[in-house]
Amino acid sequence: MATSKQELYDQLASQLSSLLAGERDLIANAANCSSLVFHALPDLNWAGFYFAKDGELVLGPFQGKPACVRIRIGQGVCGAGASKCETIIVPNVHEFPGHIACDSASNSEIVVPLMKGERLIGVLDLDSPVPSRFDQDDAAGLESLVSILLSSVSS
Ligand code: SME
Repeated sequence: MATSKQELYDQLASQLSSLLAGERDLIANAANCSSLVFHALPDLNWAGFYFAKDGELVLGPFQGKPACVRIRIGQGVCGAGASKCETIIVPNVHEFPGHIACDSASNSEIVVPLMKGERLIGVLDLDSPVPSRFDQDDAAGLESLVSILLSSVSS
């Protein structure tokens, strides 16, 4: 029986909560989160984090090919998500002004900001070789996962 996207994200949310239970280290929990997402969601070629440091985004834990280490706030899809503090869905990265091509296989992308109140912590970035891979269900599902991650490390 096919599992709907929402059911898949519900399962992932439950798995992520179990996986992160009892651990408060941001890097460790982000690493496990990126692995869970990368292996559970179909049609991804990259899944990982950039963290906000000294006014730019710096590469964090990820799964996929090696990636660009530093991204200016406002630059590319990650930088746009970081500067607007909102989820950005890009159906075709080749049409996105300033897109940073880390892996030539990428055709679509979604970026979800990590916010602690008003403060930007970083972004979750997913790339896919499939055009228009991400929709509002992905945005809602990934925002829930990010919220679980942030709750796991907050005191
Ligand atoms: N494509 C991103 C850069 C990061 S990689 O996709 C891992 C961007 O334009 O911000």
